[in-house]
Amino acid sequence: MDFKNRDIISINEFSKQELLYILKIAGLMEKKPNPNLLNDKILATLFYEPSTRTRLSFTSSMEQLGGKVIGFASPGVSSVKKGETLWDTMKMVDCYADVTAIRHPLEGSARLAAEASSKPVINAGDGANQHPTQTMLDLFTIQKVKGKLENLHIGLLGDLKYGRTVHSLTVALSHFNPTFYFIAPEALQMPKNYLDELREEGIPFSTEQDLLKVSKKLDVLYVTRIQKERFPDPVEYEKYKGVYKLDMGLLPHIKKELKIMHPLPRVDEIDTSIDETRHAVYFEQAANGIPVRKALLALVLGKIK
Ligand code: CP
Repeated sequence: MDFKNRDIISINEFSKQELLYILKIAGLMEKKPNPNLLNDKILATLFYEPSTRTRLSFTSSMEQLGGKVIGFASPGVSSVKKGETLWDTMKMVDCYADVTAIRHPLEGSARLAAEASSKPVINAGDGANQHPTQTMLDLFTIQKVKGKLENLHIGLLGDLKYGRTVHSLTVALSHFNPTFYFIAPEALQMPKNYLDELREEGIPFSTEQDLLKVSKKLDVLYVTRIQKERFPDPVEYEKYKGVYKLDMGLLPHIKKELKIMHPLPRVDEIDTSIDETRHAVYFEQAANGIPVRKALLALVLGKIK
């Protein structure tokens, strides 16, 4: 499969075979260090929104493969502050780097960045829309901890309206015969277009508010933070913050083999007492950002076919 020069903007643009191929390359990256694979390449990381995991794991992945990294962690230190457009910024970065990872608060911004750039652009999160590389590492994690991707009962809990990771993950898991349980307050439920798509594809799902109603059925529980920064009205956020708080009291109500995931950062939705249980895989999940992002960089830069 040839991913050379390919943009990674939306998970919808990846077939099941392509996703499985990326996971296979990520597995190889985990086994073999490849310290010189990208030693003539430069990654630009343009982060218009805060990040710990995505930006640092892209940086670490590039450097572990021998490449170099330029960019900014906040638009305030770039000429964006002086009013430069995203289009013009991308035209400049095109001259300085071989590949760009961009995070931006506006939906569709990664697509616009890719249109402006002749080099591959990777969407590191565009507003409440998508976070495709997070989804790829989520799939990699599920495959590792459950031994498969097919036929799983998946609960997605929290802010399903504004949480971009659950949007991308729902689309990707739809290739693998899932049953979905969308657990959220009504106002923060999964957007209609995603549910319509599932109906069209004949994928079983239910929308719930009470986790305990379905918790015994789940193989994977994917927890998300209430996305404070996306609420147009802070009063609305105050209504929903803290609505779900998982603690040790959940354990009698779940399968022994349930795995709890979270894209992180967490606020208070998973109590730290859960961290040491057999169920918690969220730190392992974040660590999987390295092999997956190494694989993506090597693929789009044409160093692996
Ligand atoms: N999961 C994730 O995107 O984390 P960061 O916001 O820290 O990059």
